[in-house]
Order: sequence, then C-alpha cells, then structure tokens
Amino acid sequence: MSHVVVTGAQGFVGRALVKRLLADGLGGRAVSKLTLLDIGFDAAPTDSRVNQIAGSIADAQIRAQAYASPVDAVFHLASIPGGAAERDYALGRAINLDATLGLLEDLRGQPRAPRFVFASTVAVYGEKLPEFVDEHTLPAPALSYGAHKLMGEALVADATRLGWVQGCSLRLPGVVARPGDGAGMMSAFMSQLFWKLAANEALTVPVSPEGVAWWISVGACVDNLLHAATVDAERFNARRCYQMPVLRLTIAEVVDALAARFGSERKALVTYAPDPFIERLFAAYPPLYTPQAEQLGLRHDGTVEQLIERAIAH
Ligand SMILES: NC(=O)c1ccc[n+]([C@@H]2O[C@H](COP(=O)([O-])OP(=O)(O)OC[C@H]3O[C@@H](n4cnc5c(N)ncnc54)[C@H](O)[C@@H]3O)[C@@H](O)[C@H]2O)c1
Repeated sequence: MSHVVVTGAQGFVGRALVKRLLADGLGGRAVSKLTLLDIGFDAAPTDSRVNQIAGSIADAQIRAQAYASPVDAVFHLASIPGGAAERDYALGRAINLDATLGLLEDLRGQPRAPRFVFASTVAVYGEKLPEFVDEHTLPAPALSYGAHKLMGEALVADATRLGWVQGCSLRLPGVVARPGDGAGMMSAFMSQLFWKLAANEALTVPVSPEGVAWWISVGACVDNLLHAATVDAERFNARRCYQMPVLRLTIAEVVDALAARFGSERKALVTYAPDPFIERLFAAYPPLYTPQAEQLGLRHDGTVEQLIERAIAH
C-alpha cells in the first residue's frame, strides 16, 4: 500500500502515468492513495484512491496539502515548457527551478525518505550537439528551461545526499504521440505524423525526410519513470541522473513504418517543407549512447513498429 504524488498530472505524460499507477500499482504494490497536483483538472476523479489538488506547485500551502499524509513516491512532472519559459523568465524560474527545490525541501519532515523521480530533458545538452552524445557529454543548455532542469538534477542529487529523498532524474527526449494540435509547439510535427497518418489525413512537416530525431513512445517513457521509482536505489549512479534511451530514426523511417502499419498509400499524405531552423532543432540529432541507463534497466521502444503501437495506444 503506498501513497504516490504526481505533479503535472493533467499533462501528456502525467495522464498516461496516472492511468498505469491506478491499473498496475507501483513495484508490485497497490497504490492506496494517489495525490494529483496540477493548475486545474478537467474532470472529477472516478477512482476513490485519487485526491486531486488544483493549484500551483509554487504555493507552499498546496505542497503541504499534497504531503499531508506520509509519501512513498513523488513523480515531479509539472513544468513550464521551453518556449513559454523563455517568454516569461520569472514564471519559468518559479516553476521549473524554485518549485522543484520547494518540493524537495518540503519532504524533509517525512517519516521515510520517499523516492523522487524528476522529469528532466534532453534540452540540457543545448543546441550545438557534438558528433555523438553519451553519458559523459557535458550539458550546455541553450534555454533557461534547460538550465533550470539541469539545476533541478543537481538539487535532486543533493536532496538525496541530505537524506530527504531517494532521488532520480531522467532526461526525457521528445515523447510521442501528444494528442491535439501541439498548441504551436515547433516539435508538434513529430506527434502529428502518428495521428494524421493513422486518421488518413494529409500533413506537411517542417523537416526533410533525411532529418534524424530521437524518439520514445509515451508508453516506454512511463515504463522508465516507473522503473526509476522502483529499482533498488543502491544501483543509482552518484549523479542520480540518467538519459532515457531512445530510438534514433529518420523522419522517412518513421513515415515508412507508419505506411506499413496503416496502408502504403498513406506515405503520399506527407509533404516535406523543411525549415532550416526547425530541422536544426528537432531533426539533426547525433547518435546517442546510454549503456549506464540500459544497465539500470531503462529501455527505448525496441523497434519502430513498437514505437508506433505504444505512441498511439492512449
Ligand atoms: N513530452 C515531452 O516530449 C518532454 C520532453 C522532455 C522533457 N519533458 C518533461 O516531462 C515532464 C512532463 O511533460 P509533459 O509533456 O507531460 O508536459 P505537459 O506540458 O503536457 O504537462 C505539464 C503539466 O504541468 C502543469 N503545470 C504547469 N505549471 C504548473 C504549476 N505551477 N503547478 C502545477 N502544475 C503545473 C501543466 O498544467 C501541465 O498539465 C515535464 O516536466 C517536461 O519538462 C517532456
């Protein structure tokens, strides 16, 4: 029996995680209480174990409500995305940095140090990626979002050293397939490819077919978050931080696989209109090596076919 807290529970990854926690529990134990924290909720909970708290993680009273009964695990997913954080520095700092520290410090009084899984990002590496990225690549964030996430990783490791939490940060790549139109996100095409081809609708992508991206399905991403929350803490590295493994695939490889899955004629639905800026940001990813993460048990989707199945299964 355990009490699990999820921040950003209404988000894309949060919703998928909550579904899994309710259905499967955590590490073979049923979740007895699931506290969900977000700015707001679009529906009342249907499961009696769910406790929704609407408010900001920047508000100490809201955090105190979430931690009112002993906590076994926290999944910290709430964040202000990169573009929005760049437009409003104060908001980005308050949520992506200060509130992360608040969530960690407020766990000091817990009877047992809870597991704390923090969703970091590949944005910590910055814009000018080296020939390949591995677990020794030094981060060089190019946005405040990435800089604050990187600081969050350090805070999670420090809070672990202090005995407040058993922490682990995971650097997420672009997760697919986010529903909706992507609300103006420049990387929206990555998720749109899946939904549009599945629905037999035309789509123009702002990158070339040879563009290469790092891919993970929301299902595999959730597997990894759950694994980080349950693996023996003795196995974590000193930094308490791992890059999530990814499939590195060209846009054409994903389109071909989608055409093989939904019908070969659907390949013609995709038009390419490369924008050099977007191509550089989202379709020019070098090889990524993650042996430490894989040793810990973190996984990518395995095959492009599996990526597709798990990207659209929600
Ligand atoms: N999805 C991706 O491709 C991706 C890639 C890299 C990193 N990440 C990280 O993974 C996490 C989850 O991503 P996602 O795609 O589900 O994000 P999302 O934007 O879909 O969800 C984030 C949630 O946080 C909530 N939130 C924002 N400010 C809040 C506040 N002050 N208090 C409480 N809740 C607040 C939002 O309302 C939203 O529901 C984020 O931390 C994100 O930075 C995601």
